Amino acid sequence: MKTIIITGGAGFIGSHVVRLFVQKYPDYHIVNLDALTYAGNLENLIDVVDKPNYTFVKADITDFAKITEVFDTYRPDGVIHLAAESHVDRSITDPFAFIRTNVMGTCNLLQAAKNLWQGNYEGKRFYHISTDEVYGALEKDGTFFTEQTKYAPHSPYSASKASSDHFVRAFHDTYGLPVVVSNCSNNYGSHHFPEKLIPLAINNIKHNRPIPVYGKGENVRDWLYVDDHARAIDIIFHKGKNGDTYNIGGNNEWTNIDLIRLLCRIMDAKLGRPEGTSAKLITFVTDRAGHDLRYAIDSTKLQRELGWHPSLQFEEGLEKTVDWYLANEAWVERITSGAYQEYYEKQYGNR
Ligand code: NAD
Ligand code: TYD
Repeated sequence: MKTIIITGGAGFIGSHVVRLFVQKYPDYHIVNLDALTYAGNLENLIDVVDKPNYTFVKADITDFAKITEVFDTYRPDGVIHLAAESHVDRSITDPFAFIRTNVMGTCNLLQAAKNLWQGNYEGKRFYHISTDEVYGALEKDGTFFTEQTKYAPHSPYSASKASSDHFVRAFHDTYGLPVVVSNCSNNYGSHHFPEKLIPLAINNIKHNRPIPVYGKGENVRDWLYVDDHARAIDIIFHKGKNGDTYNIGGNNEWTNIDLIRLLCRIMDAKLGRPEGTSAKLITFVTDRAGHDLRYAIDSTKLQRELGWHPSLQFEEGLEKTVDWYLANEAWVERITSGAYQEYYEKQYGNR
């Protein structure tokens, strides 16, 4: 039996990765290590909590003593590290929280893995999940981020992720720690915390509230369905080359305003509203400081070397996402009202 610690498993992407691994690998013991910050919600994993190969451990990656204790207890063969502060707007108001969790927290995990494995690296792997935002911003058209693109982060979020990527590689180069890194574009799908663009817009449209679009809505993001990211993580964890980096992207660029217009059309149809109703809610607001113009990933290496491909067309993925949010209004409501963490305790106790 292999033991894998997945950090940040109660969050958006982490919950999809935990679900995939728990269901696909009954022989692995999956330990979900999460501090349950505002972004963590154990309800995301209600369909796997009772599986025998799943354990939840509440721990903060900024607490080195606690992390050491968890590593000594579970003695993981692998670490898949997703825990992070992930919202750019929050990083602008509180950069230190991002430095603590994303930089210090990652270093604590690296050091704990190094201490546990003691140079005996056979069958061991530390997999760090990062973002395309470390590469900075592209011009409107033409170029893409490759694994060779120089780091040029602009926001405190992307600077903290860039720093953590460097530490992961430094532990590989200095101590021989077996690592792999992937940098992914914007994800969308179910269980996405409703402070991010797509779930926020879905919720606001549902309730006839203004949809805030930063600046002129001309910024471009490359959207990938979250389950396609989880599949890529599975493939890279098992087949990625030691010390290597893989870019993951949907080859699916949208300006924010075109994306919101598409979402409005889908929502009008689903809610039985006359076409054009939801688009009236679009409201241009003050731009984000340092707002990166365009992200676009070249994932040729991952596709060629490891055979991964995105599976869903954007319209199809967006419809599935809208369907999930409309069918799970109570999940959204518990988050927006702030009741979600208490609700889980009351409803499910220590499961
Ligand atoms: P999220 O904010 O939804 O979830 C983060 C999770 O980490 C939460 O469960 C939270 O409780 C946990 N966490 C935060 N601080 C912690 C701490 N100090 N100790 C332990 N746990 C802590 O994030 P997400 O969108 O699922 O992103 C997951 C990872 O993927 C992040 O590393 C992010 O940088 C990366 N990523 C995200 C995207 C995206 O579009 N969301 C794209 C590329 C890469
Ligand atoms: P977001 O979901 O925060 O992801 P990221 O900043 O990591 O790309 O934002 C996606 C895009 O949408 C980004 O260009 C900022 C923009 N945006 C808005 O226009 N309005 C909003 O309310 C939010 C949250 C984001």
